[in-house]
Amino acid sequence: MTTTAPETEVLAAVFDAAVAADERIEPRDWMPDAYRATLVRQIAQHAHSEIIGMQPEANWITRAPSLRRKAILMAKVQDEAGHGLYLYSAAETLGTGRDELLDKLHAGRQRYSSIFNYPTLTWADVGAIGWLVDGAAITNQVPLCRCSYGPYARAMVRICKEESFHQRQGYELLLTLSRGTEAQHAMAQDAVDRWWWPSLMMFGPPDDESAHSAQSMAWKIKRHSNDELRQRFVDICVPQAESLGLTLPDPDLRWNEARGHYDFGAIDWDEFHEVLRGNGPCNDQRIGQRRTAHENGAWVREAAAAHAAKHGKATA
Ligand code: 3HC
Repeated sequence: MTTTAPETEVLAAVFDAAVAADERIEPRDWMPDAYRATLVRQIAQHAHSEIIGMQPEANWITRAPSLRRKAILMAKVQDEAGHGLYLYSAAETLGTGRDELLDKLHAGRQRYSSIFNYPTLTWADVGAIGWLVDGAAITNQVPLCRCSYGPYARAMVRICKEESFHQRQGYELLLTLSRGTEAQHAMAQDAVDRWWWPSLMMFGPPDDESAHSAQSMAWKIKRHSNDELRQRFVDICVPQAESLGLTLPDPDLRWNEARGHYDFGAIDWDEFHEVLRGNGPCNDQRIGQRRTAHENGAWVREAAAAHAAKHGKATA
């Protein structure tokens, strides 16, 4: 049933009033096509980031230094898979199925976070990812709990609770290494040196280069700008690094009393754009492993579909 122009104007006014009043937009509510499209874009990339993000750390499950550390890491990696499923489910409420999104990821037509294109070279990287990458994720995702789109905001509440566990286990792992032998302290420092700047890039390009921020903030999908959240993350990490007995690899980092924030050095945006173009250290490996995992899982999807067809249930 097509709506007439006047009807659309009324529906748009109702949508705008709901967003202005901080009400939630739900799947059955009318919404601008562009609102729907940017939510699918962002939620899909978020979901893709979660499942690709399983790879760097899973690399260390078989080599964890103790049963306790192995159990913690397995729980974390399993959590990331669950985050991906919540988010693909949130995208499905917008009318876009998981198969379509995965096809776009595998074809390189949808993104995942740049951060996961870096290698995990030592056990300390597992700690640096927990402390820095999951820490950045929390800083970026807590405001998303107040996103105007209901299913996305609700998915974020549970995800943020689990990210807090991820960040704490990473911090504790680094603290153990930092207070260990000289070699262990050096391993922790080397990991922080390699993960610090890519973690700052997780928040997106500078505000004046962000293609989507203005509209996403007007629609209250985004509650803060890329630079605001990046600054918030830096301000959180500096005292934590001191508590860890580790240094952050930025000679320009210093407290600015007038601003009430830490000043920090220039980010290498050329590196960021190269990684987004697919030229990061692990882009080919990550997407190749993802495609292989999808192919190897085809029999499970076929079996589930056959079972559902036989027993008359809608397939997942
Ligand atoms: N990696 C890859 N692409 C990025 C990026 C990054 N770090 N930062 C920005 N981009 C892309 C955007 O997708 C956009 O490209 P597109 O038009 O092709 O989609 C372009 O660069 C311009 O960036 P914008 O700032 O205009 O884009 P957004 O408004 O979408 O902001 C964002 C980018 C801040 C990442 C936002 O999308 C967001 O908040 N997403 C939700 C959170 C998320 O996806 N986090 C990723 C990590 S998930 C994670 O950390 C898992 C945890 O368990 C570790």
